[in-house]
Amino acid sequence: MKVAVFGLGYVGTVTAAGLASRGHHVVGVDVDPMKVDAISRGQSPVVEPGIGDLVRRSVASGRLEATTEARHALECADVSLLCVGTPSSARGDSDLTYLRRAVEDLRDSMREATPPEGGVHTVVVRSTVPPGTCAKVLGPLVTGELPQGWSVAIAMCPEFLREGSGVEDFFAPPFVVVGTDDARAQVALRELFAFLSHDIHYVDLGTAESLKYACNAFHAVKVTFANEMGRVFAAFGVDSRRVMDIFIQDTKLNVSHAYLRPGFAFGGSCLPKDLRALQSMARSHDVEIPMVGSALSSNEMLVRSVVDRVLQTEYRSVCLVGLSFKMDTDDLRESPNLEVAERFVGKGLDVRIYDPIVNPDKLIGANLRHLQSKLAHVNRLLAATPEEALDGAEVVIVSSSDAEALRAVTAASPKLVIDLHGRLGEDVEQLSGYAGVSW
Ligand SMILES: NC(=O)c1ccc[n+]([C@@H]2O[C@H](COP(=O)([O-])OP(=O)(O)OC[C@H]3O[C@@H](n4cnc5c(N)ncnc54)[C@H](O)[C@@H]3O)[C@@H](O)[C@H]2O)c1
Repeated sequence: MKVAVFGLGYVGTVTAAGLASRGHHVVGVDVDPMKVDAISRGQSPVVEPGIGDLVRRSVASGRLEATTEARHALECADVSLLCVGTPSSARGDSDLTYLRRAVEDLRDSMREATPPEGGVHTVVVRSTVPPGTCAKVLGPLVTGELPQGWSVAIAMCPEFLREGSGVEDFFAPPFVVVGTDDARAQVALRELFAFLSHDIHYVDLGTAESLKYACNAFHAVKVTFANEMGRVFAAFGVDSRRVMDIFIQDTKLNVSHAYLRPGFAFGGSCLPKDLRALQSMARSHDVEIPMVGSALSSNEMLVRSVVDRVLQTEYRSVCLVGLSFKMDTDDLRESPNLEVAERFVGKGLDVRIYDPIVNPDKLIGANLRHLQSKLAHVNRLLAATPEEALDGAEVVIVSSSDAEALRAVTAASPKLVIDLHGRLGEDVEQLSGYAGVSW
């Protein structure tokens, strides 16, 4: 394919040279003439293992060139990849000035450049941009008037390379994600990345834009987590390297898919208790652990957001499907669902509860005490069947995926169904009152 790459920094140079090495004809564009000169001489403008060789060979083969003239790069180009910087503004948001300028350059260049065969040019953002950016900044290329012969399809294709192993990562990315609702862009990107033996994840623009932030935030959170653990344990004379060496060997719960689906607040007899203990251990040694320490307040915010959401409606009759902190247990200690029920009762709402497992007649010990301290009259609120609990309910809050209960929720079709679970299935999700807790 004939490809224009806008921005010859770390991402752009690796992308341009990488694509050229796999047979595409690439013209890189940069507003910085020094970067363009470097590539024209067969040298890389950035330092990365392997990039020098890749640029030199690609330029020597005639498949990679560089220019400051967007018009030259756009000549007959099938695809433009926008790899310009999106630095932090003074307020902390992404500065989209370079992206906007690149899009203007692209549009202006279409006046003079020859369109590709077939006339469809795919404009792809590889820079990291907040959700909604592609639609806002690139959308006008699709909906607005373009010079004769040009038609534009847009896509977001986030880049996952890491500096220091950029070339290696480019050829072995964790995944290839293409955000677009345009079939023409899907076809173009399938061809562009055909050299990678990866299935492409086709998603909408917003999902592709968000993914990169989720990845980077997770990396940052992991580093901070390990460091906060280190600082607490060091105060107790424990070598956290040893702790974490073993920690990472748990690929069932620790370094795994577990606990990574958006849903409702955590609870139960261990997590809140042990987080509080960890905070106390840190405090006792004057160690601050702001990230781990804020997990409980973040959790509380989620509980409050669900309660407020219901209180902001005119509905006063609420049914909770699921009471324990997770399915298949009757443990009610620090269950966020119980907390929600208690707050509704406190606000004078009419509350009914169905839990396929929790049976107050069978609860004993700490469980019973916890229930009694939270909801003294819970016996009156608990229904024996989901139908009974749902009878007359305007709002249903579902945290259990018990099949019988979900059938009853679907049949009752309440005014508002708040899904705290995340995988209740199509029948519930297609109800007109359905709303996810954070989706
Ligand atoms: N650096 C990384 O490891 C990495 C990895 C993945 C994603 N990203 C994202 O990719 C984007 C680019 O990152 P980078 O590190 O390569 O940035 P960079 O600052 O190294 O390079 C950006 C280049 O764009 C050029 N530029 C600016 N305006 C231009 C225009 N109108 N036309 C042509 N060129 C223009 C600049 O001169 C510069 O050379 C950012 O959004 C970044 O967040 C970076």
